[in-house]
Amino acid sequence: MINQTIYDILSRKSTRSFDKSRSVELEDLEAIVRCAYAAPSGMNIQPWHFTVVQDKEILYSLYTAVQEIQGRGPEYCFYNADTLIITSTAADAKFGIADCACAIENMFIAANSLGIASVWINQLSDLSTNRKFAPLMEKLDIPKTDVIRGCCALGYASDSSDSEPTQKNSEVVSWFLK
Ligand SMILES: Cc1cc2nc3c(=O)[nH]c(=O)nc-3n(C[C@H](O)[C@H](O)[C@H](O)COP(=O)(O)O)c2cc1C
Repeated sequence: MINQTIYDILSRKSTRSFDKSRSVELEDLEAIVRCAYAAPSGMNIQPWHFTVVQDKEILYSLYTAVQEIQGRGPEYCFYNADTLIITSTAADAKFGIADCACAIENMFIAANSLGIASVWINQLSDLSTNRKFAPLMEKLDIPKTDVIRGCCALGYASDSSDSEPTQKNSEVVSWFLK
């Protein structure tokens, strides 16, 4: 049984080559972020904060921070994604990682349903406790007690992006049916 929602879930894939010339419209970003905070969260604490960055100068500061602090090459640029949505929670949020993962997956599926490509960016999660990264966290108004849990990069896939579906292992399910 395949309906539109199932199709949107099954056809989602990570994109690692974005079209630099196309930007995601605000209306679409608003719908995608709404799907983020509609996600389930442990005990309905909704511990998250979402920081939507489309400003090219700030994106540049973010990926050059990854280049410098993590020793990545100058080619590192979030695959030229148009927009980065940073998820964060207080460092001691009990279900912070799981809650943000639910929110990020909701964003991926919503984006796919709108023809917008996406990929998880994990590099900022490792940086969010690094002293050198603190000024950028502050500039982005990310709450001082927060750590980054993961980022959702969005944009339109470039012509050269891999269009093959990612192979999935279906032998991971045990069934005990009546
Ligand atoms: C927790 C997590 C962290 C990830 N971090 C990155 C990342 O930093 N960069 C990247 O290109 N992809 C990242 N990915 C995407 C995975 O590599 C991708 O989901 C996987 O290869 C399966 O491909 P698919 O998304 O097309 O199904 C991450 C995914 C998850 C769930």
